[in-house]
Amino acid sequence: MTSRAETAGRIRLARPDVGAEEAAAVAEVLESGQLTMGPKVAELEAELARVCSVEHAVAVSSGTAALHLAVLALGLEPGDEVILPAYTFPATANVVALAGARPVLVDVDPRTMNLEPGRVYDAVTPATRAVIAVHLFGRPLDWEALQSAVPAELALVEDAAGALGARWRGRPCGGLGLMGCFSFHPRKIVTTGEGGAVTTSDEELAGAIRRMRHHGIEPHGSFEIRRPGTNYRLSDIQCAVGIPQLRRLDDLLEARRRVAEGYTERLAGLVETPSADEGDTHGWQAYVVRVDRRDEILAALRAQGIQAQIGTYALHRLSAYRDEGPFPGADAAFERALALPFHTKLTEDELDRVAGALTTAVSN
Ligand SMILES: Cc1ncc(COP(=O)(O)O)c(C=O)c1O
Repeated sequence: MTSRAETAGRIRLARPDVGAEEAAAVAEVLESGQLTMGPKVAELEAELARVCSVEHAVAVSSGTAALHLAVLALGLEPGDEVILPAYTFPATANVVALAGARPVLVDVDPRTMNLEPGRVYDAVTPATRAVIAVHLFGRPLDWEALQSAVPAELALVEDAAGALGARWRGRPCGGLGLMGCFSFHPRKIVTTGEGGAVTTSDEELAGAIRRMRHHGIEPHGSFEIRRPGTNYRLSDIQCAVGIPQLRRLDDLLEARRRVAEGYTERLAGLVETPSADEGDTHGWQAYVVRVDRRDEILAALRAQGIQAQIGTYALHRLSAYRDEGPFPGADAAFERALALPFHTKLTEDELDRVAGALTTAVSN
């Protein structure tokens, strides 16, 4: 017997917008014989720095690697505290713990699902060194409110993993803080398969991150290592996949905006739909609605071949971060957030199908 899902076809959660241009660029790298540490890395970095209006971009092997190197570059000591949201992808907190510092979870606003600046203010102690602020799912965090909530000497790092092309009051996310961290995972706006980057206008930090992604080796042939590093390099093959997408970023963003608008037209009034603050540009990494009985609705969509997903994680519900809290904002976000299939190739028919299935599930 054929199930309804098979008849109607599966609707995928994500689908990278890559094709002939990326394939040709990869073929060119393979033919060149220089598969890593070649010219494509610098080319991708220049494109990303341009997009974010910063002086430097350093390509690395994942968004997690970007966050890890950004945190290491701050030179944190044991006992130093780093404030970050209680509702985020766990990498935001994991890198702080791995660097030997203390992640301090702060609740999010259940409406925006981003950090609440007033609560950040309350969480600052003499041991606080930095804040990692996430623009969750591509929604720009209110940067001015965050800046005015913390002492000027604190380092503000953006976890812009899903915020490439997003703008806070016209300024690109990833160019607002001391450093910005991006992910190029296939569910992100631009993908290299796996990959990431750190953006900054601070030359010293950029140099430190460049060295640490390559074992700590000093540049210019001195064969010296002053501080241990990693291998978090991104290959030329991967950069070749990312460059054409970065060059057509405006088109990709426009396509994502249209899909988001298509969902909002169909779903407004039925569920809580996502948006950005007035004057901001959403990056639309994901389209995440809020519903009651989220798990039941998620199961109902999946039963119809619709690849929906939870939003992200409430860190204090994980064993690694269990003793923090309470965080009612993060709890509400975790329990209610539902990510719908979202990519540039979704058709009007598919949007109708998702909206129809969601309407039925919500009304049951
Ligand atoms: C907010 C956030 N930070 C960091 C990451 C980690 O990125 P990556 O998967 O490229 O390591 C992700 C990935 O989903 C993310 O959503």
